[in-house]
Amino acid sequence: MCGIVGYIGNRDVVDVLLKGLTNLEYRGYDSSGIALNDEGNIKIFKALGKLGNLKGLLKEQEKNIIDPVAGIGHIRWATHGSPTEDNAHPHTCNCGKLVLVHNGIIENFKDLREELIKKGCIFKSQTDTETIAHLVAQEYDAVKDLKKAVTKAVKRLNGAYAICVMYKDEPDKIVVARKNAPLLIGIGQNEHFIASDIPAVIEYTSQVVYLDDMEVGVVKKDEFHVYDVEGNEVNKKIEKLPFEPVALSKRGYKHFMLKEIHEQPDVIRNVLNGKLYDIDEKIILNEVKIDKETLKNLQRIEIIACGTSLHAAMVGKYLIEDFCGIAVDVEASSEYIYRKTVTNEHTLVIGVSQSGETADTITAIKQAKKKGAHVLIITNRPDSAMAREADSLIPINAGIEVSVAATKSFTAQLMSFYMLAMFLAEIKGSVPKDILKELKHDIIQLPTLIDEILTHKEPIQRCARLFANTKDFIYIARGINLATAYEGALKLKEISYINATGYPAGELKHGPIAMLDESMPVLSILMEGKVYEKILSNSEEAKARNARLIALTSSQDKTLDDLFEVVLRIPKVNELLSPVLASVPLQLLAYYIAEFLGKDVDQPRNLAKSVTVE
Ligand code: AGP
Repeated sequence: MCGIVGYIGNRDVVDVLLKGLTNLEYRGYDSSGIALNDEGNIKIFKALGKLGNLKGLLKEQEKNIIDPVAGIGHIRWATHGSPTEDNAHPHTCNCGKLVLVHNGIIENFKDLREELIKKGCIFKSQTDTETIAHLVAQEYDAVKDLKKAVTKAVKRLNGAYAICVMYKDEPDKIVVARKNAPLLIGIGQNEHFIASDIPAVIEYTSQVVYLDDMEVGVVKKDEFHVYDVEGNEVNKKIEKLPFEPVALSKRGYKHFMLKEIHEQPDVIRNVLNGKLYDIDEKIILNEVKIDKETLKNLQRIEIIACGTSLHAAMVGKYLIEDFCGIAVDVEASSEYIYRKTVTNEHTLVIGVSQSGETADTITAIKQAKKKGAHVLIITNRPDSAMAREADSLIPINAGIEVSVAATKSFTAQLMSFYMLAMFLAEIKGSVPKDILKELKHDIIQLPTLIDEILTHKEPIQRCARLFANTKDFIYIARGINLATAYEGALKLKEISYINATGYPAGELKHGPIAMLDESMPVLSILMEGKVYEKILSNSEEAKARNARLIALTSSQDKTLDDLFEVVLRIPKVNELLSPVLASVPLQLLAYYIAEFLGKDVDQPRNLAKSVTVE
């Protein structure tokens, strides 16, 4: 959602801004814009829709851009006010000397707007952001110093902001500030970059400084300084970026999603690295900063997450309850934050998030922390706001995930839960050693088994072609694969816009069965193990209502070919590990259907990669 880029230095400013915005595109947006401080003039360019429109506009306007010394850019995902050119950032003040881009939401913007209108400010947009531009400009009139003006203005803002501000008469600087929204300064030789996320700067530098809440930065070509809101300079740590520029290339794949699906064997190896050395050795999880005695006596865990991360959490619950007998509640962050939860200092709260920036999950873990719980964060972004809140932090090391539809991060989250559940089981002594040994052995095979699935994609492609024009889909499963069904259905919905729903197979006859006929395919996740026969019976019930049946199975049983129209077979694996394998064909099925339908696979409509608003 939304993205910020800023640059001050000797490179082609427009080029740096556009490349940066292009690398943030995956976050989801509906308009874009840049502002330049060019030969003593502020110039603003905005366009609706995809970045191509802004690029086209800038090409047309080339002759009007002379020699910009600094610039700021933004992609906007509409929250306050519809996607229009007027609402696109950058925003400005009455005199047009100040320009500003903003990520986040200003909660008290209505009061501020009224106050500013009374003072003569003329608003051109419906955004909360324009309020900040007028507010800073008002302060500037009094103090005649951009840093001081920004510092005074941000003290009046409630909510979340990452802002980048330029002023016509101070062309040597960009002033930045943040609260509850990420912002970093990229350090170069005689140049500095500003971005809301790493991909925007990764091509130019690997050294960054992350701004913390309530800090204000003054970024110049050859120096930068960061201050707290009282004006005291803060000594910031320079950090090395955790990713390489190559992470942003499709490496020959048609879409990032397909590339990321294929990265899953390596992602699993990365998760295991340093945690699982040998089947005879215990799981090492030094990231968990709770003493063994407390872990041994742990009675209750809450896991909070959204979307795909929530589905990984469901598998986590199954594993921890099964291995350790600890009661685990899983809840969507957006529900958790609006009720009285029974969370206290004896609860371990686990927040799961690919991005580490999901607003609902951040709020939820902050609430849990206030209640005294130990907060463990499982995330792909150890540099994120959520990671900073963590008492214990498990990075999942999946590498940058560009496709909006999460794939490899889901697998890495699952693997992290296997590690955590086994780690806890070993501390509690709740699972016999030989069973854990066998499980470790099977876990080590997972990358090879996924490779096997990935080298035989044709049956999945055929199935996708066969069902691409279906309007609805039902995915059924039981036990540990119920979450796989939810996740498979979510993938299909997200990128193909087909109405797909996951159900516990046993629930089919309690309502959903009424919908079944030849127009409603039912996909059964049939992994050999405890619930295989049960799901088979549920599939028969669907068949009796004329539903078209697809099986995703680890079974070689040939009679399945009589019951099901399509049988997708995956390698046999311990049932407890089957979600890792079963998810892959479901990701591919969604991918090929969406691709067949000509959908924008990596950037589905209305979706954002990081949902930074509640
Ligand atoms: C996954 O395909 C989705 N794009 C979405 O459901 C996502 O999982 C959700 O928004 C949570 O994001 P997070 O993991 O970054 O917190």
